[in-house]
Amino acid sequence: MVRPIGVIDSGVGGLTVVKEMLIHLPNESLIYIGDDKRCPYGSRSAEEVLKFTIEMAEALSEMDIKMLVIACNTATAIALEEIRQRFNFPVVGVIVPGARAAVATSKTQKIAVLGTTRTIKSSAYQNEIIKQSPYAMVYPLDCPEFVPLVEKGQYKSREAGVVVENRLSKLNGENFDIAILGCTHYPLLEAHIKKSLPPDVQIISSAVETVRDVEMVLTEHNIVNKGLLRQAPVFYTTGPQAAFKAIVCDWLEMENPDIRSLMLS
Ligand code: DGL
Repeated sequence: MVRPIGVIDSGVGGLTVVKEMLIHLPNESLIYIGDDKRCPYGSRSAEEVLKFTIEMAEALSEMDIKMLVIACNTATAIALEEIRQRFNFPVVGVIVPGARAAVATSKTQKIAVLGTTRTIKSSAYQNEIIKQSPYAMVYPLDCPEFVPLVEKGQYKSREAGVVVENRLSKLNGENFDIAILGCTHYPLLEAHIKKSLPPDVQIISSAVETVRDVEMVLTEHNIVNKGLLRQAPVFYTTGPQAAFKAIVCDWLEMENPDIRSLMLS
């Protein structure tokens, strides 16, 4: 039995991190929880986000995970430190890797951050970017309409394009060369986001960089799966299975994923 890596998000957003993990960590088993029933977290209080994140981590702890990836910027911003203190498996978040990728790529150190209202209000990205690059200029923008569009499976629609364009027009006139997708749901809207930003702006998603941190932690803790064959990933949702499954099949290009229901209090 290969001990799995747990991955959590408020909904389907963390699948963007799972996609990279499946490519770069082909020997590892994964268990995913999407709390679709209570999504979006981005418009909830910090207390709620913390409580829900602890509940997901507890559920995965009972499933004997060997490490946890908080594949949700909102939960990372609010709950990362608390989760690290409460559980004895290693925990990786998405904000430090996202900020690192942006700072390393930006030529001008003028960086836009797109995120949920809770993430932007927490200033977690703004603080992390300045910590890594003290003279950077950060342009934060919360985009509360984006996550519901993705959860409804409407990320490819023309309407989504209009919503994205309207929201990003708030950045018109700002002169940044990088836009961080500071919410793991946003890569599903990337085509619309790209079209709505000036062509020379590069888009950074923290997913790829996060997998680097996962690899590092697996090695440091000596918990890389070297021998045993991995199990197929298991996906739990707290919401309706059909909508969740449709997005898993589309985004991860899977035909028959193992989707299960989970009740959290
Ligand atoms: N995918 C999440 C994030 O990265 C949360 C979105 C939400 O539930 O508002 O922030």
